[in-house]
Parts: sequence; C-alpha cells; structure tokens
Amino acid sequence: MANEFAIKVENVSMCFNMSKERLDSLKEYFIKLMRRQLNFTEFYALKDVSFEIPCGQVCGIVGLNGSGKSTLLKVISGILKPTVGKATTIGSISPLIELGAGFDMELTARENIFLNGAVLGYSKKMMEDKFDEIIEFAELQDFVDVVIKNFSSGMVARLGFAIATITKPDILIVDEILAVGDFLFQQKCERRIHEMMAGGTTVVIVSHSIDQIERLCQRVIWLEKGRIRMDGPVEPVCNAYKGL
Ligand SMILES: Nc1ncnc2c1ncn2[C@@H]1O[C@H](COP(=O)(O)OP(=O)(O)OP(=O)(O)O)[C@@H](O)[C@H]1O
Ligand SMILES: [Mg+2]
Repeated sequence: MANEFAIKVENVSMCFNMSKERLDSLKEYFIKLMRRQLNFTEFYALKDVSFEIPCGQVCGIVGLNGSGKSTLLKVISGILKPTVGKATTIGSISPLIELGAGFDMELTARENIFLNGAVLGYSKKMMEDKFDEIIEFAELQDFVDVVIKNFSSGMVARLGFAIATITKPDILIVDEILAVGDFLFQQKCERRIHEMMAGGTTVVIVSHSIDQIERLCQRVIWLEKGRIRMDGPVEPVCNAYKGL
C-alpha cells in the first residue's frame, strides 16, 4: 500500500544557542571563544512536536511571533536538522520559506528564473518551456530584464510563488510570503493553491491572516512557544486562537 502520510514529524525539538553578549568584533569573539568565556544560553524554538499530515491535506500553522512556525517549516523542508527527533516527507517538495531565498538580488528576473530552476533541480529546457508562463503568472512582463534588487517586495514574492508552483510538487510549503502580495495577487495565489489541492498536492501554510487560513485549510496546528497548543479542524482551532 502507498504511504498515507506526506509529512511525518516525530518528537522534533530544535535548540538554538543564543549568545547574550554583544561583541564588537570577530577578533573579540574568537578570543572569548578560545578562553571559553562565551556564554550561550540554550533556547528551544520547538519542543517535542509530533504530527502527521496525510497526502492531499491542506494544513495551516498559526501562532504568535516567535512561536516556532518558520523553524518548523525549515525542519520539514530539510533546511534545518532538528536537535532531537525527525521529519520525514514523501515526494517532491517546493519550499517557499523566506522572501527572496534562492534568489540572487544582483541578477535579473530572467537570470533568477534559471538559477532557481537549477536550485530546484529542473532542467534548463524545462525552465525555457515554462518561462513565459512564470512571467505571465507573476505579471512581470515589463520587468524581465530588471535586476531584482530594484523590485518591490511584492514583486519578488510574485516571482517566487510563480516559480515554486510552476510544476506540481507533491508538497508545497508556504511561509507567510503571500502576505506581501496585493489583494489581487493573493486571490490569484489562493486560486492556484486550490488547483494544486484539487490535483492532490499536500500544502502547509503559515499565515497571520486567519481569514486566509479559514478559506484555504482543512486543518490547523496552533504553535505556542514551540509546542503544539492545539491541532484539529479549522473552526475550533481558529476560534480558540482568536480568543487569545
Ligand atoms: N537561527 C536561529 N538562531 C537562533 N535563534 C533562532 C534562529 N531561528 C529562529 N530562532 C528563534 O526561534 C524562535 C522561533 O522563531 P521562528 O522564526 O520559528 O518564529 P515564527 O513563529 O516563524 O515567528 P513569526 O510569526 O515572527 O514569523 C524565535 O525566538 C527566534 O528567535
Ligand atoms: Mg516566521
């Protein structure tokens, strides 16, 4: 039988070492490091988080700033290795984690499309075939050969979303980036996510827009200080979260 889950997170904890001191130079850092005078405090951004997302489910993640949402998405995407536990994903995965991640700000939109395609493991031929569709979806026809450091943040987000969704990944991970697009583009993104859902893609969305979560998701996980506070159908979880 085929695997029933697309994403499985097992007892994941993520510990960061945070330096509380302010050091004025790298030299000072190394001197302190050699003398073992650096004080790090351990900070758990995720604490014993476990859940499974079945294939084809659209799951939202909510929580206040710093609750561990982006860290969790990075663990799922394999960008961060958890301190404890493990995350397993099945199938191809398109992570849209940070605005402009995977882009080179000194290159044009055209160059970045090919760069990003290569990073995602797509052939040059395929990117050539998909090029017009990407530009059209992102509505950047007039900016194809503009260096993207001159783009607005919404324009960068459009390009990122257009590239990440040009092929149908088995898993789409979206961290907040829809938020910088204007309302028309957000509607367009939501339509595309609906199309992908219809095609069976598993989607994980982090958003501070509870409306957006309610429109798109079937299930919501609420993170609080790195732990799962609530996990279940959209309505009860969103209502409880809004009641904070
Ligand atoms: N690389 C890192 N080094 C040290 N601490 C980190 C690192 N990345 C995240 N943290 C810490 O982990 C905690 C969770 O951060 P995270 O970015 O996952 O929060 P978030 O829920 O995505 O917040 P937001 O809603 O603001 O995007 C924060 O306290 C943050 O300071
Ligand atoms: Mg975040």
